[in-house]
Amino acid sequence: MQELQQILDQALQQFAAISDEAELEQVKAKYLGKEGSLTALLKGLGKLSAEERPAAGARINQVKQGIEAALQQRRDALQQSKLAQKLAAEALDVTLPGRGLGSGGLHPVTRTLERIEQLFHSLGFATASGPEIERDFYNFTALNIPENHPARAMHDTFYIDPQHVLRTHTSPVQVRYMEANQPPLKIISPGRVYRFDSDATHSPMFHQVEGLWVDEEISFANLKGVVQDFLQRFFERDDLRVRFRPSFFPFTEPSAEMDMSWKDGWLEIGGCGMVHPNVLKHVNIDSEKYLGFAFGLGVERLAMLRYGVSDLRQFYESDLRFLKQFN
Ligand code: DAH
Repeated sequence: MQELQQILDQALQQFAAISDEAELEQVKAKYLGKEGSLTALLKGLGKLSAEERPAAGARINQVKQGIEAALQQRRDALQQSKLAQKLAAEALDVTLPGRGLGSGGLHPVTRTLERIEQLFHSLGFATASGPEIERDFYNFTALNIPENHPARAMHDTFYIDPQHVLRTHTSPVQVRYMEANQPPLKIISPGRVYRFDSDATHSPMFHQVEGLWVDEEISFANLKGVVQDFLQRFFERDDLRVRFRPSFFPFTEPSAEMDMSWKDGWLEIGGCGMVHPNVLKHVNIDSEKYLGFAFGLGVERLAMLRYGVSDLRQFYESDLRFLKQFN
């Protein structure tokens, strides 16, 4: 029975020295497994006499329980320390200063577009949109600019293939909308347009807002009223005036350039006119019955004036020092 005490001491020592859970389970087998030393002693009980057997059995079982208890204790301890380590590794230092996640803001052109839409919606215009990769047909032909017509040279066009262009203006949306809807029609169509052109006042990508109002009795006077009302509210200036200069666009007749009063002079802000009968014919709208006006405004121009920006390219350089000023 000397041996039993030794086994117990050895087991307790070994368990205490182990810091790995898997290793602990392996060592356990040395004592309690099929080939374990305690198991062997239990098997040996059969060789003892009937008088000796109960006491010896009880001793062995006692030691066995002692080993099992020590084992469980060590298991618990190892798990505790593992948990403590994990918690320490994941600890948050709540005293560190914050990293200052700044919230983003809207781009000045986006702000301008939202303002434009809001104002036109309040005048009863709905918003329509069309694709930026546009069929040559909608960008030109349906707008009364047939192939080989000199008016095509008015636009420096990016061609995708002979049938498709990056739309050079938002006017094709007029055609798409009239194809799909019957008058009365009252829409604006803001969006990106593209031209092969780049300097302080031109960017190869820029924005326009198209306007279209088709009904039975629509005149130039309505056009002037709508545009002037819009601009006065956009710039928050009741004294702002609008003037029209005769001009030419293939899809309007008569056509005009729109200027608005600014400081001591006039600034051009877009083109306009009465929708050409050929355009209405393309979309099967009876030009004897319906009339319409259309206009196209440059969005960057409006944003530059409203915010006092002198170089249009600043909008597209992603310089946060510039952009942050609008938020
Ligand atoms: N699409 C023309 C351009 O980009 C602008 C324009 C002129 C639009 C007259 C119109 C219009 O709707 O009636 O140069």
